[in-house]
Order: sequence, then structure tokens, then C-alpha cells
Amino acid sequence: MSFLSQPPSLHYLRDAYQSKFLIGTALSVRSLRGEDEGSTTVAQNHFNAFTAENSMKPALLQPSPGEFHWEEADRLLDLAESCGAVTVGHTLVWHEQTPRWFFETPNGAPLNREAALNNMQTHIAAVVGRYRGRVKQWDVVNEAISDEQGEELRPSPWLQAVGEEFIAEAFRAAHKADPEAVLIYNDYNIELSGKRDKTLRLMKRLLDQEVPVHAVGIQGHWHLDYPALEEIECAIELFASLGLRVMITELDIGVLPAQYQGANIQSRQTLTPEMNPYTEVLPEAVAQQQAERYEQIFQLFLRYQTVIDRVSFWGVHDGISWLNHFPIWGRTDYPLLFDRAYQPKPAFHALMGLEDSFSHSSTPLTTMAPTVLAT
Ligand code: G3I
Repeated sequence: MSFLSQPPSLHYLRDAYQSKFLIGTALSVRSLRGEDEGSTTVAQNHFNAFTAENSMKPALLQPSPGEFHWEEADRLLDLAESCGAVTVGHTLVWHEQTPRWFFETPNGAPLNREAALNNMQTHIAAVVGRYRGRVKQWDVVNEAISDEQGEELRPSPWLQAVGEEFIAEAFRAAHKADPEAVLIYNDYNIELSGKRDKTLRLMKRLLDQEVPVHAVGIQGHWHLDYPALEEIECAIELFASLGLRVMITELDIGVLPAQYQGANIQSRQTLTPEMNPYTEVLPEAVAQQQAERYEQIFQLFLRYQTVIDRVSFWGVHDGISWLNHFPIWGRTDYPLLFDRAYQPKPAFHALMGLEDSFSHSSTPLTTMAPTVLAT
């Protein structure tokens, strides 16, 4: 059955997966400024969860104390509500794209703990409060776990200013501002054993303190060659074993040669021809390989649909992906479901063709005891 001859309900991703989990995407600054209507149209047709790629980060929402820029966030809500999509707030507390005024006096002196904590709580109250009842899910804290072996938490300005409590206080402030919102801890590489185990320990500490954290966001910045499906499955099982919901929050599958695995945007590499092999077009064989990789990953997600509430892609089409500039500036990557002409790629058709998995009974969670929690 050709794509267009399918019944309307199976023309669009959101309809095909409606009984499984939300299918989301990230909308760029250009989309939210009305400068990329093609992306907006594809998003409204195919996706039922919208995340602002950048427009709701602290630096863009509140660049200086009391100076708020709501326009792009307001447009995200309008676009979502006009097509019945859920809005995801990204992100309240992060070490990136957060102005120094949150942590320092105007002359650069560090603020004391109370002042920095108050800045965080005031920001959260203003932002979550404005969208109370409309933004259904929040990435409350983003990427607080350290990438370094032997170090539990990233030595971020928040950790330095407030101490580990900044994480719990962020969730408490968000819950106070909107008790109905789903509150997410979001990070990358937490499907890999090191960061996964640290995240499990952090979630256990928060839950033991009755901190209102409801879900873990596995970002999913993955590649044709990594990570192994077993690692993803193990992480889903372990996070779910704590009673937390699981969200895949920023899914993309890079196809270019990679020497770095993750999303730490401070990591940079040098542009060379062999690191940028598909400047003109994505070879059909690679497109098919990507389709198979997406299909395998989605078959895993479908097996865990009872604990996965959302799968969001980090962008609508290849042309706006952050991976065109990370970890090497100026490459041509092809990580998403739609091409630079907003046309569905083989990966899109592969996901639309998973009917036989739709009825697949979901995998019962094993009784895997998270031994890592002992420490
Ligand atoms: O808005 C300015 C523009 O005015 C300026 O002319 C331009 C040139 O410097 O920069 C623009 O800001 C850029 C911003 O994206 C909006 O386009 C920043 O430089 C650029 O650093 C920023 O990159 C974003 C990155 O987060 C920043 O950390 C990426 O688009 C975004 O995809 C990426 O997303 C993160 C998630 O939030 C968290 N998880 C990892 C993921 C990938 O790093």
C-alpha cells in the first residue's frame, strides 16, 4: 500500500502511534518566529508533542532579571493547542544557556547560596506559573550528572552556588507552580552504564526525599553504530523499576563518522572531508541503514510502551538539526525523519510500517533489582 493510498489515519506519525505514546518534535527558533512554515506544517501534521529547541531556555526567556521574552514560547503554546498537541517546557535549570546573573552580582562576584537559590525559584515560579495548566511536561533539570568517571554530579554553576539541593529545590518549585505538570529529569548518555547508574542513584535519593520527580528523559542523541539496543533496554527497565515514567526526549540518529558519543556541547572536533562525506546527498544505502536502525529502536520502544509516555525527535527535518554543527561546525548530517525539502525519508516509512509491532504485547518488565542503588 503506497504512502498516499493509506487511510488518513495512517498518513501521519501521531495517528499511527496514538495508542502507544506521544510522538514529539522540537521546534526551532526560526519556526517559532514564523520563518520556517514548512517545519511548522510538518510538525502540526505528524507530531502531538512540541518542545521549544531553544526558546524556553533561561537565556532566551529571562536574559536579565525581570526582563522576559515570552513571544516564541507563547507561539509554541498556540501552535500546539491549535492542533491538539502537548507542550513540553525545555528547560528550567541547566548549566548551558543560563545567564551569569543567576549566580553572580553585576560585577562578577558570586552570589551567596540563598540569593542564587532565590533566583532559580523566582525564575521557575514565573515561567511555570505563566503556563500553568498549558505546558503539560517540564524538563525541570537538564544534564546535572557528570560525564566524568568517579564524579556523580556535573560541577555546574548551580552545584557550586547552591549545592546538590538545587536539583530537589528545582523540582519542588516547579511542582508548587503547577501541581499537575509532569516533571522530568533530562539527560544524555544515561543509557550507558556509568551515567545510567549515577542517574539511578540520584533518582533514588530524590524519591527517598519525596521530591516530586515523575519521569526520566533519555535524550536519545544516538548514531547508526551506538548505543547497543541492550543498553537502551536496560536503562528503560531500571528507570521504570523506580516507578518513574520514561520519556525519549531528543531522539536523532546521526549518520556521519563520529569520534564523540553524547551531547556535551563543549566537545568540539575539527572539520575534515572524511568527517563530512555526504555534503551533496545521503546515499540510498545509508538512508536504508538509518531506516533499519530507527525501526529496531522503535520496536524496542513499542515493547516498553507501558512505561514510555513520549518519544520526541530533536527537530523536524535534517536541515535544522544541531548535528550539522556538533561536534563539528558546518557538516551535513541527516539524523531525522524528514529531509531538507520536508519530504519523508526511508526512516519515516519504516516507522509507519510497524503495524505488526503495534499489536505486539509489550514486554513485561523484568524483576531486575537495580543493584546500583546500593551505593
Ligand atoms: O540565537 C542566537 C543568534 O542570535 C546568533 O546570531 C547565533 C550565532 O551565534 O546564535 C544563536 O543562538 C544559538 C542557539 O542554538 C539558537 O539557534 C546558539 O549559538 C547555539 O549554541 C544554540 O545551540 C543549541 C544548543 O542546545 C545550545 O546548548 C542547539 O540549537 C540545540 O539543539 C541544543 O539542544 C540541546 C538541548 O537543549 C539539551 N540536550 C542537548 C541538546 C543538544 O546540545
